[in-house]
Amino acid sequence: MTMPQPKTPWKSRFAARTQKMTSSVIRELLKLTEKPDIISFAGGLPAPEVFPVPELQAAAQRVLEHHGAAALQYSPTEGYRPLRELLARHMRRYGIKVTPEHVLITTGSQQALELIGKLLINPGDRILTEEPTYLGALQAFTGYQAEYVTVPIDHHGLQIDRLEEALRVGPKFLYVLPNFQNPSGVTLSLERRRRLVELANHYGSPIVEDDPYGQLRYQGEHLPPLVKLDAEFHNCANGEHAFTGNVLYLSTLSKTLAPGLRIGWIVAPEEEIQRLVQMKQGSDLHTSTFTQVLAYETARGGFLDRHVRHIRKVYGERRSAMLEALKRHFPPSVAWTEPQGGLFLWVRLPQGNDAEELLEFALEQKVAFVPGTSFFPCGGGRETLRLNFSYCNPAVIEEGIRRLGLVVKRFLQQGQGPSRKQAA
Ligand SMILES: Cc1ncc(COP(=O)(O)O)c(C=O)c1O
Repeated sequence: MTMPQPKTPWKSRFAARTQKMTSSVIRELLKLTEKPDIISFAGGLPAPEVFPVPELQAAAQRVLEHHGAAALQYSPTEGYRPLRELLARHMRRYGIKVTPEHVLITTGSQQALELIGKLLINPGDRILTEEPTYLGALQAFTGYQAEYVTVPIDHHGLQIDRLEEALRVGPKFLYVLPNFQNPSGVTLSLERRRRLVELANHYGSPIVEDDPYGQLRYQGEHLPPLVKLDAEFHNCANGEHAFTGNVLYLSTLSKTLAPGLRIGWIVAPEEEIQRLVQMKQGSDLHTSTFTQVLAYETARGGFLDRHVRHIRKVYGERRSAMLEALKRHFPPSVAWTEPQGGLFLWVRLPQGNDAEELLEFALEQKVAFVPGTSFFPCGGGRETLRLNFSYCNPAVIEEGIRRLGLVVKRFLQQGQGPSRKQAA
């Protein structure tokens, strides 16, 4: 007999905004896939082998020896000045011409999304996103009772001919991932980037550009970020791209140095930085001083660039390994994207099949992925799934895709998708 649970005084007092907040499917899945015998393509995890442990160790030693007291003290909310300077220099090389005053250090770019939600979203505000889009952003924005209007993507990113209709709804802002989008891996073409900036300006909708993967390109040419194109659109003098501010730009050290450092940043006009600083003070006062100083000490002197080159090589090989394995082991009725960078690719089963059902069979064969539905803010995407290629080495990728290929073939052949449900 089950005993009645004692009533806690809290549940009835949860704020209305918590009603639509759920825990991330991916975080839940990660718990499952931590089991050592599972080959997991589920998380968005960088490869632990590329973490620069000796360099971080040496830098930690230097930080404690030379700046110990300061690194362990409270510090300004805006962030550690030398790190902001380094990031501003770094971004200038990618065409984003800003000063350190435009940079706010955040506790991962996940916090940047949360602060943007806190600053901008009133209950019921509509946010325009790609479909599918990054689940963590949905979690952050839904916490402020956002509603969504979506534009589907194809192999060249957000379908620009569908954008205008969505903009007419009057979204508070557009949330866009132009490079190697999470979850699909697709990249927004240059032509579409230009048109996107033009249309957003025309309809007076600001853009939040989330760019954690921009530097992780393994094929093709770097494309200018929206923040740069927006500055060009505003036709700044002498070809020098002043920061005009219709675009808030986010990035992170999570994929280029280590996610455990929890260092991300927002690029915004100074006035917005000051408001975001107020939001951040209520959250955590400032990002850990120690990890900021540590990240700076590790990244400076060209190390970050050298390290990014190394990561590109490792992940580029893994991406190729996964694409080749998919060709070898997956049936022709299944389609997938061929990302030029980033950490993920996106698989589409034939219409009518459900990737969540497939996952049950896959887990029996000790291989995991993320079903696509949770990346769709307005529902749909049952036949899609996301595969991560950065975490496992090429041999493990081959074995995992071989197993998954067998599961997929059996699933489709035996009609374990739709007909299994009908039979039940
Ligand atoms: C698109 C996107 N934005 C933001 C984040 C959050 O990154 P972090 O908080 O580690 O900087 C991620 C993490 O995977 C992501 O894929």
